[in-house]
Amino acid sequence: HTQLWTISPDQPYAAIYEQVAGAAALLAADEAVVIPTETVYGLAANAFSDDAVAKIFRAKNRPADNPLIVHVADESQLREVVEGEISQREQQLIAAFWPGPLTLILPRKISVSRLVTAGLTTVGVRMPSHPVAKAIIARCGKPLAAPSANISGRPSPTCGAHVIGDMMGKVAGIVDGGATGVGVESTVIDCSPEIPIILRPGGITKEEIETIIGPVTYAQELHSNERPESAKDVSALSGHVPRAPGMKYAHYAPKAPVTVVEGSPQFLQSLVDAHHQQHPTSKIGVLATDESRGQYRADVVVTCGARSDVASIARSLYDALRQFDIATPSVDCIYSESFSTDGLGAAVMNRLLKAASHQVVREHHQ
Ligand code: TXA
Ligand code: MG
Repeated sequence: HTQLWTISPDQPYAAIYEQVAGAAALLAADEAVVIPTETVYGLAANAFSDDAVAKIFRAKNRPADNPLIVHVADESQLREVVEGEISQREQQLIAAFWPGPLTLILPRKISVSRLVTAGLTTVGVRMPSHPVAKAIIARCGKPLAAPSANISGRPSPTCGAHVIGDMMGKVAGIVDGGATGVGVESTVIDCSPEIPIILRPGGITKEEIETIIGPVTYAQELHSNERPESAKDVSALSGHVPRAPGMKYAHYAPKAPVTVVEGSPQFLQSLVDAHHQQHPTSKIGVLATDESRGQYRADVVVTCGARSDVASIARSLYDALRQFDIATPSVDCIYSESFSTDGLGAAVMNRLLKAASHQVVREHHQ
């Protein structure tokens, strides 16, 4: 049995604080509860309790070697999870971006559950800006470990319907706070090396971070990533068939295989047409933008926002990916437009390429 609350973030903080009493009590009793944050929904539990954190891994079916982010409401809770001094660069980032979508990797206190940190000596910590998240953490009085509240491998949840679909019956409580704001997860940064490393691009951009602490790097090339050879040239494309579903573990992925297309809408449409010719019965989806959607002929066309406004793409991307799973007809494959990796585009392309298991087709320019 899952308790469900609907709490609007657009109320005075005192009213929100009243309404989170039930959810906070469940968390204080070491239950797992879905909470809204400004990035995506999180599946939260007391970060000090092995028993509580184990419930997160069970509900999500998450591999135990993937550490969780701890969410704090204030600086004193930060001190409860972090050992030793916080460097000047880290303090500058905290001053600039907390509360908000930035996670810092810091030395952990021994009291943090080993399940949270997957055996590492460090812990990822962030202070969310969402008023409902803030009220829940403050009221239950414990730092909360919270991964994204999706079933592992599925797109992260960004509205109440997503979490109800994924987590109803699997957790003690769900707090529906409406649509999340940013739409992609927090940026994860490790400031311990000489040049800080962004481990995951997210809601705070590399450019924003660099204005505060100078040069930082990405852990991986955003575009090449694990499988650089998968970017195929159009000339090699005549026999192009997307990978078989389930062949490779995919993050953030809809059920149908995704191919990211770097090129014009005309080029993307030519791939759809070629695919249709080779597989006349297969149903094809296209992930388009507001600007381009009218240019596509396919079985299902979903738009993920306006190309002219990358924040709108970040906000809608996961919902757009999920729409293919519930579309009529159900699609057998998806062709997606591609985006610039400037600013928030870095997080968008990181998630999209993972959803596509790095299956990329590039238009050949003469
Ligand atoms: O926006 C977000 O960060 C959301 C909301 C709910 O706050 N949470 C989230 O958690 O995305 P999750 O568990 O889906 O992603 C956590 C990421 C993973 O990539 C994990 O590997 C990394 O943070 N991470 C956590 N602790 C780490 C550590 N000690 N060292 C390196 N990476 C860590
Ligand atoms: Mg996640």
